[in-house]
Amino acid sequence: MNILLTGGAGYIGSHTFVALAAAGFTPMILDDFSNSSADVLARLEALTGTPVLCERGDVADVALVGALIAQHTIAAVVHFAGFKAVGESVAQPLKYYRNNVGGIIALLQAMDAANCRTLVFSSSATVYGDPASVPITEDFARSHTNPYGHGKLVCEDMLAALGTSNKAWRFGVLRYFNPVGAHPSGLIGEDPAGVPNNLMPYVAQVAVGQREFLNVWGNDYATPDGTGVRDYIHVQDLAAGHVAALQALLHGGAGGGSFTVNLGTGKGHSVLEVVRAFEQASGKKVPYRIGPRRAGDVAQCYADASLAARLLGWRATQTLPDMCRDAWRWQSRIHGSPRPAASR
Ligand code: NAD
Ligand code: UFG
Repeated sequence: MNILLTGGAGYIGSHTFVALAAAGFTPMILDDFSNSSADVLARLEALTGTPVLCERGDVADVALVGALIAQHTIAAVVHFAGFKAVGESVAQPLKYYRNNVGGIIALLQAMDAANCRTLVFSSSATVYGDPASVPITEDFARSHTNPYGHGKLVCEDMLAALGTSNKAWRFGVLRYFNPVGAHPSGLIGEDPAGVPNNLMPYVAQVAVGQREFLNVWGNDYATPDGTGVRDYIHVQDLAAGHVAALQALLHGGAGGGSFTVNLGTGKGHSVLEVVRAFEQASGKKVPYRIGPRRAGDVAQCYADASLAARLLGWRATQTLPDMCRDAWRWQSRIHGSPRPAASR
């Protein structure tokens, strides 16, 4: 079965590409390389042992997407393409609404016209805003604190409306918690442009000596050690979650309809726990300084991941030490090599 991955050259898309190929699907990529490099394609070929089908283009190009779906008899689409920097979305909201909301509207129009109505969508734990309690189940109230998060919420609502309008649509909405780590080969991973916003890439850059110390954003939260608690999930587990979602959508699993599930481990780890685990995995010191709280941060955010287990038979299996080990392998390999683009 041929599966189209929009944004498939990016961090999560590239790992999912490998997992889908291993599961017997034939994935193909549509990417405009706005946040990735075509260099990843050769690495995907090395990992899968087959030529990689990839089209350079914008997901908002209805004619292009429609032609791809028809020409390659695409059975389902996994929609990763989009921008993901929360701070940038506050500074440039229209850029985010255009690409993240406009992009999926165009994609759905192209899919509808080509009679392909099965989609997996990359949503986020950001739709829970500041959760009333933890662990978070899928029926928690949704809210948003920035245009990026608002865009995810709007996309989820649009999919629900479309599903009501035509019962032929099948949607798997996957709410990712905090994806980290890299492929165990060290060939693909995440390499954010500029100063990393996210904890794990920042810690990795401190460990490798690229940055002097980590700023810990607040140690006065109501958490065991006062630092923020998150549900870090290995990107390989996340990739396996997409395979399970597609299998359910295409083979009548999960009750034969659409579903929305959390993809997390169900365990929370504090910033200082991540620092210690990374020190263990790398054998390097990660110096840190306690700074003020970061605007918009919540104290704790971790999933109740039992619905995905029940519906899809999927569970995360990798631990924080596994995530740090693979992030470190990747970081040590790319350190010092020229970076052609944001994610590689
Ligand atoms: P990424 O930036 O590495 O990958 C996104 C890919 O989409 C990139 O290769 C980029 O070039 C491509 N792209 C962007 N706009 C495009 C367009 N208009 N047409 C074609 N290609 C386009 O990001 P990622 O971390 O792999 O995230 C994938 C998805 O998962 C995004 O939708 C993101 O919002 C969502 N998500 C990510 C996280 C996270 O922490 N990484 C958490 C929750 C949800
Ligand atoms: N943190 C630091 N120092 C840093 C970076 C982060 O102390 O330099 C702390 C944060 O304060 C937070 C924790 O590390 O307590 C995790 O922060 P991240 O930025 O790595 O992740 P967030 O949970 O804030 O947000 C991420 C994505 C969002 C997404 C959310 C849920 O950036 O887009 O996960 O999926 F919505």
